[in-house]
Amino acid sequence: MPLAVLRYGRARQYNECMNNNTQSDVPTVAILGGGQLGAYLCQAAGPLGFRTRVLATSAPSSVDDDADYIHVGALDTVDDVMHVANGADVVTYEIESIGPACLDALEASGIEVHPAPDVLKTLQNKVSQRAFYAAHNFPSPRWTSRDTVTTECFDALADELGMPFVQKAATGGYDGKGVQVVRQPSDLRLDFGQSLFEELVPLKNELGMLVARSTTGETCAYPPVEMRFWGDNILDVAVCPAEIPKNLHERAMQLAMDVVSALDGVGLFCLELFVDTDEQLLTNEIAARVHNSGHLTIEGSETSQFEQHLRAISGMPLGPTTVPRPAVMKNLLSKLLPGTPGPFGAQPAHSDASATVHWYMKPDAKPLRKMGHITAVADQVGDAIAAAESRTTQLGFTTSGE
Ligand SMILES: Nc1ncnc2c1ncn2[C@@H]1O[C@H](COP(=O)(O)OP(=O)(O)OP(=O)(O)O)[C@@H](O)[C@H]1O
Ligand SMILES: [Mg+2]
Repeated sequence: MPLAVLRYGRARQYNECMNNNTQSDVPTVAILGGGQLGAYLCQAAGPLGFRTRVLATSAPSSVDDDADYIHVGALDTVDDVMHVANGADVVTYEIESIGPACLDALEASGIEVHPAPDVLKTLQNKVSQRAFYAAHNFPSPRWTSRDTVTTECFDALADELGMPFVQKAATGGYDGKGVQVVRQPSDLRLDFGQSLFEELVPLKNELGMLVARSTTGETCAYPPVEMRFWGDNILDVAVCPAEIPKNLHERAMQLAMDVVSALDGVGLFCLELFVDTDEQLLTNEIAARVHNSGHLTIEGSETSQFEQHLRAISGMPLGPTTVPRPAVMKNLLSKLLPGTPGPFGAQPAHSDASATVHWYMKPDAKPLRKMGHITAVADQVGDAIAAAESRTTQLGFTTSGE
């Protein structure tokens, strides 16, 4: 795909043709999903010479200031998806819940889609994802699955996995919703439907491994990002490089690149890895998209995960992935009541010597909604964490343990 460095005024118009940017030779990326990940992709697209067409599920949305063209519609409606895809050179997504009929329609259209629809279909279901890891002998927690769950399943599951064990809804989970620990038969969630069951891994750390693989097969990994959670499995802080033994860094990076290569994936992926108390690496799950744990690459690395994704899906050479100084990202999680309007859309990104504040332009706050994030870079991890925490408190946002 020819790439020229071009910049455009932003459309900020819903369901209308692109501003005056009608040159047909300008490479165009369609992005399914209009959340903050989509906004960052749009911001990275301009300097690389791409125009963007975004399918947002609501208006206003986080991409309003950044997309060249926005269509408001549903991620599982073929007409909406194809409306945005038509006229694009390549289609990608910032959220994984694209409907199966839409994936089929995209495939049938012949438009390039990255990561490919069959890759996404494998990953959308936690059981088929585990089967993929097993088929390639990637290390995983012990697991089994049931298409339907009854309390009678309990004894066999406890025998196979030990006690307690973990139940995960095969589809539809996010931020830990659809994941629970089972200690007794009555804990089993029958309403999850098809479920993945896993041993409860004694966790030492959780890592987010960012890997880019391009249409040319070029593959690279960022240093391990340590994900620290609190409350209901919501990412609190991401730390790079992860505070784990040095000998695990290379192994984790290699494992992550091997997984993405085995998938034949193209784009930026985030492999979530467990480090258990014996310092074994185990695959948890993979996101076929840019990821919250990679936000710190905006300030922390020469190539942000968003730029890297666009490079990968357009066959451009991949950029450097080093993170020269420790970088920390802290999510700004709202603790306001539902429906309370936030001042968040009005505030631009703010940078001081030690911390950069990003806002996601969300029109209202819900409890624990991600309203933005802070990135801090310092010579020592501890200093970066302290800078991010102190800025969070100054802004009146939730900090760990509250
Ligand atoms: N087998 C396991 N053993 C121990 N802890 C686990 C296990 N599986 C999941 N967890 C814990 O639950 C969290 C959520 O699980 P998982 O990542 O599978 O769900 P999710 O809802 O898809 O998460 P998200 O979409 O937010 O990444 C993990 O980050 C980890 O802390
Ligand atoms: Mg997860």
